[in-house]
Amino acid sequence: MKTLAVVNQKGGCGKTTIAVNMAACIAAGGEKVLLIDMDPQGHASIALGTNGDQCEPTIYNSLTDEEDNICSLSSTVIEIGENLWLVPSNIWLSAIEQQLAGKRGREDRLRDCLVEVVERYDYCIIDCPPSVGLLTMNALRAAQLALIPIDMSRFSLHGLQKLTETISVLCSQTSHMVHTRVVANIFDSRTKFAKNMLASLQNDLGDNLCKTVIHRCVKVAEAAMLGLPIRKSAPYSSAHEDFADLAMEIVMNQHLFETPDPFPARVMFSYFAPEAHEVKVAGDFNNWFPSGRYKLRKEQDGKWSLFLPLKQGKYRYKFIVDGEWREDPSNPLQELGGFGEKNSVLEI
Ligand SMILES: Nc1ncnc2c1ncn2[C@@H]1O[C@H](COP(=O)(O)OP(=O)(O)O)[C@@H](O)[C@H]1O
Ligand SMILES: [Mg+2]
Repeated sequence: MKTLAVVNQKGGCGKTTIAVNMAACIAAGGEKVLLIDMDPQGHASIALGTNGDQCEPTIYNSLTDEEDNICSLSSTVIEIGENLWLVPSNIWLSAIEQQLAGKRGREDRLRDCLVEVVERYDYCIIDCPPSVGLLTMNALRAAQLALIPIDMSRFSLHGLQKLTETISVLCSQTSHMVHTRVVANIFDSRTKFAKNMLASLQNDLGDNLCKTVIHRCVKVAEAAMLGLPIRKSAPYSSAHEDFADLAMEIVMNQHLFETPDPFPARVMFSYFAPEAHEVKVAGDFNNWFPSGRYKLRKEQDGKWSLFLPLKQGKYRYKFIVDGEWREDPSNPLQELGGFGEKNSVLEI
């Protein structure tokens, strides 16, 4: 799955507009696209005709630690149209930053949730909030490409420098690499100021600036009001042409998604127990603490399963079936634990 985060700490530069319309254009080309609304304002959800306030569950439920509210990313997905799916968001998401403060691996929550769906979608587009907090960090850690929209103003240029610095700090502190591309948005070709600014961006950024320029167009706001992507509300508009060009430019430059894979190994735990009411897994990977995040989901054939993102290593584990600790009957590899009990063992 190729993952792209649309980021800029500045509000109003077109992140949501670009995320939504690019997602729709890439989906129209036959690729399966998952759009994730990572903004507590829920604008991407609204722009696709979904009221995030009425959605339950949302991306919040996948990222939270609250036992009663956790659910898998796939159960938050809503089908929007052919090849296009949405993970909605609403104001609850603003609680995540405080809730996860100090928790280990908090910047990797989204990446770990996405492990479950990497084979289901071709592209994942993440619409970020207007800040460089934990939510944007999660998006960058899951993405191979950061697309930075910039409107034609003096403040945008200042913000751009700060953002690229932040991204390079993130890359140097962690082993995660992100490509960056800037895209000029709300470009008004009638003004000399916009033309000069575009020329200086081209000069400063060279190939890091997308060739496609998104022009100012009144159809953009109209589409958002209708809750539709522009390719549905105004398919013959110049705005649709711009977004289709941008989608094509990104899709044609596959090297932008070539980075060391940001996703850790994806391990499936499964247990056959048609009569059980609850199955969890615990082991070295979660300090033997089976929180709600480690509940298996019941499939139709009586099998329970869960995908977990695990780094390379050796892990001892057990299932907890309706409160009883059990070894994995499908895994012959076992080891004696400290209290003489048997644990299943897996090595990746
Ligand atoms: N190319 C464009 N032409 C005209 N209006 C635009 C364009 N891109 C964005 N807008 C408008 O600018 C405002 C901010 O866009 P939005 O995508 O919500 O920005 P962000 O997500 O960065 O806050 C919205 O009202 C949107 O309709
Ligand atoms: Mg937005």
